[in-house]
Amino acid sequence: MPSGRWTRSPSGSWTRCPRGDQVSRGTRGGVRAVLARWRGRDVELKTAGEIDAMRIAGALVAQALTAVTAAARPGLSTGDLDAIAEQVIRDGGGVPSFLGYHGYPASICASVNDQIVHGIPAATQVLADGDLLSVDCGAIVDGWHGDAAVTLAVGTGRPEDLALSAACREALDAGLAAVRAGARLGDISHAVQSAAEDAGRRDGVTYGIVEEYGGHGIGTAMHMDPFLPNHGPPGQGLRLTVGMALAVEPMLTAGVPETRELDDGWTVVTADGSRAAHWEHTVAVTDDGPRILTLPA
Ligand code: MF3
Ligand code: CO
Repeated sequence: MPSGRWTRSPSGSWTRCPRGDQVSRGTRGGVRAVLARWRGRDVELKTAGEIDAMRIAGALVAQALTAVTAAARPGLSTGDLDAIAEQVIRDGGGVPSFLGYHGYPASICASVNDQIVHGIPAATQVLADGDLLSVDCGAIVDGWHGDAAVTLAVGTGRPEDLALSAACREALDAGLAAVRAGARLGDISHAVQSAAEDAGRRDGVTYGIVEEYGGHGIGTAMHMDPFLPNHGPPGQGLRLTVGMALAVEPMLTAGVPETRELDDGWTVVTADGSRAAHWEHTVAVTDDGPRILTLPA
């Protein structure tokens, strides 16, 4: 397990800091600020009414992903899918949160085959039978954010791709189930990692658990504290309390966990060219346990 701190990369996603940077970041704002961050006071807490407002944004994201999933087929481009998602979001009274985010040029991320996350949709990227496609989407309604992702096979999926996607979805589900008041952030990370490892054992493979990117707090902004690794020991880190909202988003590869960013400054691909899956939900900590905000209405 890596020991570095994590920070936002210039592209807006979270990434691990080099060791040197870790020292200066760790003391930002002095000891009091460090303690406040450590105790989780930087984490935005929502009222029950605000969680309801986030659910409206989340349902719109789900609706956009449902439309994209229904439309995805060989011959369609990822640019076409982006237009579909943007239309659903705007028709529903929302604003696409990805569009313009640190200069990002689209309303969805469409990551094909060895692309893990942050693939830029394009009219020139035409889907083919058997492609493995991850679609990530975010929307803002009344100032509140929803963020979710699905992985799907275009046309007829390869069995090993379907297994990879299922494993990633199981890791997501395990992570979501760990989102309870009183639990710790590390319990979520550990649940994600354990489920991915269990799925690998069952499938007779070792899935790569991507470590350079992870989940995040979410609410009045898309990426907020805390960063949520997809691996690590249980019983450590921030204690979860009612009113927190997180985006849980495991990324699994069929090969190594290492990644590479393409020259476009966004697209993250597997270092070994293996295929990848990405599933994500926005979830809130409530008195009644985890409330998944990005399920279809
Ligand atoms: N769910 C993705 C993430 O948390 C959202 C990326 S938005 C983009 O990294 F605009 F940066 F693409
Ligand atoms: Co996210």
